Amino acid sequence: MFEKLSSPKPDAILALLATYNADTRPDKMNLGVGVYMNEKGETIILDSVKKAEARLLEAETTKTYVGLSGDKGYNQAMQEIVFGDSVANERVNGVQATGGSGALRVLSKLTARMRPDAKVYVSDPTWPNHYALLQTEHTEIEHYPYFDAATCSVDFAAMAAKLRTLTANDVVVLHGCCHNPTGANLSNEQWDEVAEIAVEVGFLPFIDIAYQGFGDGLEADAYGVRKLASSVDEMLVAVSCSKNFGIYRDRVGCAFAIGKDQASAELANANMQNISRGIYSMPPDHGASVVRIIWDNPELRQLWQDELVAMCTRMTSLRNKLADEFKRQSGGDKFEFIRIHRGMFSLMGLSVEQVIELRDAHGIYMIEDSRVNIAGLQEENIPRVVKSILAVS
Ligand code: LMR
Repeated sequence: MFEKLSSPKPDAILALLATYNADTRPDKMNLGVGVYMNEKGETIILDSVKKAEARLLEAETTKTYVGLSGDKGYNQAMQEIVFGDSVANERVNGVQATGGSGALRVLSKLTARMRPDAKVYVSDPTWPNHYALLQTEHTEIEHYPYFDAATCSVDFAAMAAKLRTLTANDVVVLHGCCHNPTGANLSNEQWDEVAEIAVEVGFLPFIDIAYQGFGDGLEADAYGVRKLASSVDEMLVAVSCSKNFGIYRDRVGCAFAIGKDQASAELANANMQNISRGIYSMPPDHGASVVRIIWDNPELRQLWQDELVAMCTRMTSLRNKLADEFKRQSGGDKFEFIRIHRGMFSLMGLSVEQVIELRDAHGIYMIEDSRVNIAGLQEENIPRVVKSILAVS
């Protein structure tokens, strides 16, 4: 029977990683998959995580199931990190999920239950896996304009104009911060306008926030999600701890529904639990316990926040150095957008052919749409990266 299956198209991001791993050139550079790397190119475990794991090992007494909604202390921690005090506690209800991807899946199925014929709008472009995670048997996925390739910034006039044409039955997926793949983000004023449009039109905002703390800091990066949470009656939020806690393989995320009142939030939550039961039953415990321990302990919380600031500062500094070097080598301002973009990624504006040439001739790996992972750079390699990009473009 298996021969009846067709071969699926490989995921562009993960396939690139496999090609990179198989490359034997010693000076190859991985600017592909969105994983933070330090100045040595290593993805190390944060000290705060290691310390919390030691406490967990000591205190843990059972491996019985955590329950459908997961660790309630973890969900509360995530609520505080993401929403602050922007929305009344009883209107927010979360379930622990298997990474941001698990949260997106649970919430897309919830959307399909509520609005079976909804059109789900994603930014053009968006993270490629959004299509698979947001697709259900009922969903139509459409785009709203987002990135202006000529200026490498958000085409907000086009985005806002499109959002104004939507209906109350539509769902709009927004990247909470650090847009993946472009690196171009909404300003606070633009978030204010998106919130105004959402209230006016009545579409359901569905925020994916996977890089909180990697842009301008933990609080600043939550501006958009908090603005919408304090403006609309209902919204969905998928959160990932993979990047900001560096616990990628532990699969830690949270799916939130904000309801207009406590009863509607609880009903949404009961549905989310029922949906996750039908996908993976119950979430894994380890990583979520680690996050809860860190957040609940003032000393570990401070250590984690310092480590997060260090990762964020390194990426901002690499952005500035990369932009400086482009200016120095090219004599022009074409790549100044790298300085303005925020988060782990920037779209470099190269063609697929140029990206392939960079990989084949120069050993520099980026995603085919020319997305680079800024954290994959090392200071000493920046001149080489710039020289190679200028050589192919
Ligand atoms: C990425 O965008 O590279 C990351 O979110 C990893 C992934 O799963 O695609």
